[in-house]
Amino acid sequence: MQRFTDLLPLERMHGAWSNGAIVGGAGAFPFSLTVPGGELPTAGVTVVGVLPTHRRRGVLRSLMRAQLDDAHERGEPLAALWASEESIYGRFGYGLASFCGEITLAREYTSFAQPFEPQGTLRLIESAEAQEAIPPVFKRIRPAWPGMFSRSKAWWENREIADPEERRDGAGPKRWVVYERDGSIEGYAAYRHKPGFEAGTTNAELRVVEALGTSPEALRDLWAYLLAVDWVATVRSYLLPPDHPLFLLLATPRRMRYRMGDGIWIRPVNVGAALSGRTYSTDGSIVFDVADEFCPWNEGRWTLDGGRAERSQDGPELLLPVQSLGSALLGGVSFAALQRAGMVVELKAGAINRADALFRWDRHPWCPEIF
Ligand SMILES: CC(C)(COP(=O)(O)OP(=O)(O)OC[C@H]1O[C@@H](n2cnc3c(N)ncnc32)[C@H](O)[C@@H]1OP(=O)(O)O)[C@@H](O)C(=O)NCCC(=O)NCCS
Repeated sequence: MQRFTDLLPLERMHGAWSNGAIVGGAGAFPFSLTVPGGELPTAGVTVVGVLPTHRRRGVLRSLMRAQLDDAHERGEPLAALWASEESIYGRFGYGLASFCGEITLAREYTSFAQPFEPQGTLRLIESAEAQEAIPPVFKRIRPAWPGMFSRSKAWWENREIADPEERRDGAGPKRWVVYERDGSIEGYAAYRHKPGFEAGTTNAELRVVEALGTSPEALRDLWAYLLAVDWVATVRSYLLPPDHPLFLLLATPRRMRYRMGDGIWIRPVNVGAALSGRTYSTDGSIVFDVADEFCPWNEGRWTLDGGRAERSQDGPELLLPVQSLGSALLGGVSFAALQRAGMVVELKAGAINRADALFRWDRHPWCPEIF
């Protein structure tokens, strides 16, 4: 509770009341979320819950109503969340916008496909140094990666550096390692050991909490370090994007036993501002006809042209519910894939390809942390 109350502005928490008692709640962190080529103010939806005594009578629906109206009034073009269950949020206009997965890699399969010379040096640091040294590195990395969100100083202290026992899930304290080149920190990793020894050999786990680098070499060298720590039987990590370089770096990537699921979900709160807030991969235009029952101010036709979206009377080319736009916005789900799932209708031949050329980005969205 303390962890959330320290970070969540009180005015961003909605409560549902019945006979003077709170029976449900929903909060929103005020984030800035990286979108392709830019960033947008975003309601980072969190701590959604309804008491079991009051479930399935519309409490969540009323909370979503209040929360999205509030985000709209505040001028946040997007809302984003991690869903506890995939079935809950589509009805409120959230679309699955990224995929991510966990790996469980046995230490004997950590060889790289190609030999390479590590470029930098690694240094273990204490959390006090991490608190000062790591945030500026993350700040440099974040703009390139759609799906990453801003972390305030308090967020760093409370969520990343603080390491209470109950968040360790049976493993040891967080270790911080930095990767340096020419005296500059160009990457870092946070990880934990879960030590163990059985029948004369190690059965320990190394859990990578977060590993990020400012360059491909930095990320590669960090992982080379993480995968080579002694006395480890298994390396585990979570929330890795499906285009993570490890798939191409490792000699036997299947051995990661990658298990993919949904990552963050995106809800365009203001379709015009959301579409205008990112950069596009080509010139060109497209006319959307958007259905949005829950936030009717978004309904109707929008022309995206020259990177800006405006209300329009042009003939619609793609017909879609707002959650499909949420899925496509960060470039993580293509319009072609949405079409195959019946989530967008092509009204003008070629419009799907044109939209995909516009929305494509150089990497899959990556949100490295569940909020
Ligand atoms: C999920 C939860 C918040 C739903 O609250 P609720 O007040 O029962 O939801 P509502 O009555 O407002 O339901 C709104 C709609 O969502 C549907 N719905 C609600 N929970 C659902 C679930 N878990 N799976 C599928 N559909 C669900 C309802 O059937 C209803 O559908 P309708 O629009 O067709 O009528 C509540 O059950 C809960 O607290 N669960 C445990 C905590 C949790 O999972 N929180 C989410 C964190 S991301």
